[in-house]
Amino acid sequence: MIIAIDGPAASGKGTLARRVADAMGYAYLDTGLLYRATGAKVLALGLDPSNDDAAITAAEKLVSGDLDGEELRSEEVGSAASKVAAIPKVRAVLLDFQRDLARTPPAGKRGAVLDGRDIGTVVCPEAPIKFYLTASVEERANRRFKQLQEKNPAAIYERVLKELEERDARDSARDVAPLKMASDAIHIDTDRLNADAVFNAVMAHIRTHMGEN
Ligand code: DC
Repeated sequence: MIIAIDGPAASGKGTLARRVADAMGYAYLDTGLLYRATGAKVLALGLDPSNDDAAITAAEKLVSGDLDGEELRSEEVGSAASKVAAIPKVRAVLLDFQRDLARTPPAGKRGAVLDGRDIGTVVCPEAPIKFYLTASVEERANRRFKQLQEKNPAAIYERVLKELEERDARDSARDVAPLKMASDAIHIDTDRLNADAVFNAVMAHIRTHMGEN
């Protein structure tokens, strides 16, 4: 059983996907981390994440198990991830890796929850349950800004907003596997919903689906 959760940056996919995986006893795969690790490797070499050769080599190293302990959650790495993610060969290198993990979950797990941008459309189009989370860019920037401010009081809202707008534009406009809702996904607008309300709505859909099958 595969559950796909897609949506733009800072839409709350990660928190939701982890909770759903815990509740279901499924494996959780944050596919953004693969692009982040690829982007971080390129940055660590002092190269441009839009450089095809550097990004492809980094993705190949990653899937062959060469993992470094770089910081992956920063905005700088998020932006580099979005740049390497626009390179078709990088996506191709990471695609089989994601599919294998989704279709063969670790021992003891009966399924997997994947979150990303193209899970429902490209990585696992056969997933029987798909969600697409959205929220306005201002709301997402607000949430991200509050998280950042806890670590760094000097964080600037306008910068967070601009970074998200750039990432949205790049992730939606690329030629290969752009951010897009699958035609059979359930759309949840989280602008006026807190994390618990989103989780409860998603679990209700999953239970309905499981009951019907
Ligand atoms: O979900 P995230 O913010 O960690 O993702 C970082 C970047 O990786 C995102 O801006 C675009 C890219 N990405 C992607 O292209 N496809 C995915 N399935 C997941 C992430």
